[in-house]
Amino acid sequence: MKYSLYLFAISALYPISHGDVGDFSPCVNYFYRDWPPSGIEGTPICQNYENRYHFATLYSRERRSPWFSAYLYTTPAGKRPKGNWKYEPQLANSKADGAMVRFPIPPHKVDQNVVESQAVQQDYTNSSYTRGHLNPSLHHQDRIDRRSTFTLTNAVPQTQESNGGPWADLEDHVNKTLNQYCFGRAHIVTGIIPYRVDRWLKDEHRVAIPEYLWSAYCCPSYSQNLPESLRKTFPTFAAIGRNDPNSTEEIVPVDRTKKENVGYDVRAMSLADLEMYLRERYRREITVFRNQCLESQDYL
Ligand SMILES: *[C@@H]1O[C@H](CO)[C@@H](O)[C@H](O)[C@H]1NC(C)=O
Ligand SMILES: *[C@@H]1O[C@H](CO)[C@@H](O)[C@H](O)[C@H]1NC(C)=O
Ligand SMILES: *[C@@H]1O[C@H](CO)[C@@H](O)[C@H](O)[C@H]1NC(C)=O
Repeated sequence: MKYSLYLFAISALYPISHGDVGDFSPCVNYFYRDWPPSGIEGTPICQNYENRYHFATLYSRERRSPWFSAYLYTTPAGKRPKGNWKYEPQLANSKADGAMVRFPIPPHKVDQNVVESQAVQQDYTNSSYTRGHLNPSLHHQDRIDRRSTFTLTNAVPQTQESNGGPWADLEDHVNKTLNQYCFGRAHIVTGIIPYRVDRWLKDEHRVAIPEYLWSAYCCPSYSQNLPESLRKTFPTFAAIGRNDPNSTEEIVPVDRTKKENVGYDVRAMSLADLEMYLRERYRREITVFRNQCLESQDYL
């Protein structure tokens, strides 16, 4: 009797997780040295699709959008998959299956519990923002990995000018750099910086809009023959991109000599500088990669 009560108390305190929401342990391999970034609080999601994990996301239920997604880069092949957007059933019901599910095709509607628990397609309809991938499909070789990035738990409201402009250029630059000069594993974490006072899609207080996007990679094993321009971009590299042309310029200055996408600039910087800007806005110490990704040169 005493024994079973004791067991009951333990399992009530530490519910045994059978799912993919609430715990990074089944997908901790997507983080450098199995170590998720520290300092940001949210709901862990191990992104499961077609019976496999593909990446990890720290989700904000309050903002109905992610804080960051973390993944392993692989050389892209083939063309961009069709974007069949999906949602995470376990955010609505912890007993649901953990795999992401495609949104029903209208006039079929998604369950109201899903609508309450996360962003849905209607949030983006008629808004002036696109569904910006944090983990982009083009940083993956595998077809299923690519498709798995089309889940709204991996997307934030991103302006078209950023998404199709300087942010896309950054993703290309990272692709080319890692492809050519990274020999081992490359861990990437891409996240957001919130406004000081939150702003919401269509002012509906459902899906929060980020003021900036940031991204950082960690590639501990890399070429010793780096061109001068890339010397400072290994083992780590980071960048912050503007999502609002009206933002002030302390974090990312605006190049007004450009012809297009003025005000949506992306600024490359060191990992230390990124962490400094994150600390300022989040008002706490944030570490993206354990020990600055400097633990070992033979990490493959
Ligand atoms: C989008 O706008 C159209 C035209 O104004 C309207 O009919 C439709 O209901 C809107 N959809 C959403 C999801 O707000
Ligand atoms: C990624 O980089 C490789 C090597 O430079 C290049 O061949 C490929 O076209 C790039 N892929 C995309 C989608 O840009
Ligand atoms: C930037 O400011 C202009 C002028 O006040 C305004 O029309 C525009 O909507 C603002 N853009 C954003 C993204 O807030």
